[in-house]
Amino acid sequence: MPDVRVHNLAISLDGFATGDGQALDTPFGHAGERLHEWMFATRFWHQMVGNPGGTVGADHAFAERHEPGIGAEIMGAGKFGPPGWQDDADWKGWWGPNPPFHTPTYVLTHRPRPSIEMEGGTTFHFLDATPAEALEQAREAADGRDVRIGGGPTVVRDFVAAGLVDHMHVAQVPIVLGRGVRLWDGLESLEETYDIEAVSTPSGVTHLTFTAKNR
Ligand SMILES: NC(=O)c1ccc[n+]([C@@H]2O[C@H](COP(=O)([O-])OP(=O)(O)OC[C@H]3O[C@@H](n4cnc5c(N)ncnc54)[C@H](OP(=O)(O)O)[C@@H]3O)[C@@H](O)[C@H]2O)c1
Repeated sequence: MPDVRVHNLAISLDGFATGDGQALDTPFGHAGERLHEWMFATRFWHQMVGNPGGTVGADHAFAERHEPGIGAEIMGAGKFGPPGWQDDADWKGWWGPNPPFHTPTYVLTHRPRPSIEMEGGTTFHFLDATPAEALEQAREAADGRDVRIGGGPTVVRDFVAAGLVDHMHVAQVPIVLGRGVRLWDGLESLEETYDIEAVSTPSGVTHLTFTAKNR
């Protein structure tokens, strides 16, 4: 059975994966870019945005695992757009005409709309469904490859709570946000169902990997 994976989910020391006050000009609220500076430095990111260079050390090695073997992504309405995007019939996500997913991409929302085919292989499908139902559709579309749960924290938490995630990579960044949306709320004793490893890198990030014990 193909895996369900989470990659590069960046959280603060106090567990927030996004700040308070998400808006069109502040996709991560008051966190700004602080959760992702470690990733912006890597070759993985440089390649994604078409720039030369970038670091190739441990942060890069973790970050680039985001891509290989993924056949579909599931994300939440909060990742797809700022609060209220559902009222904008022309909103097609943050990422321009050629989004970086290049696979069928399922957006969980209580206000679904018709699918949108983008350039480069990304098609956004909008689903009002349980995590298990959404995963069933994404698995079918992924055609034997893995499914990535792309965030934000609410959706990742729901999929973990439902026991649907096989591998999760969380990058804990040495900042304290104090407010926002927390990843861990309501999740308890994950160490009983996951093997958890931690690796710190010179950037100050601690990479946490969770591997389901039943895999
Ligand atoms: N730190 C990171 O690495 C990272 C990664 C990705 C995103 N982010 C950030 O995280 C933030 C978004 O995260 P979030 O936790 O606020 O929101 P989210 O997880 O992206 O989406 C949650 C929303 O999705 C919809 N939804 C979730 N489950 C559903 C279901 N089963 N059926 C129907 N609709 C469902 C609901 O929206 P409606 O009720 O409005 O439809 C819900 O409020 C953004 O700021 C984004 O930039 C951070």
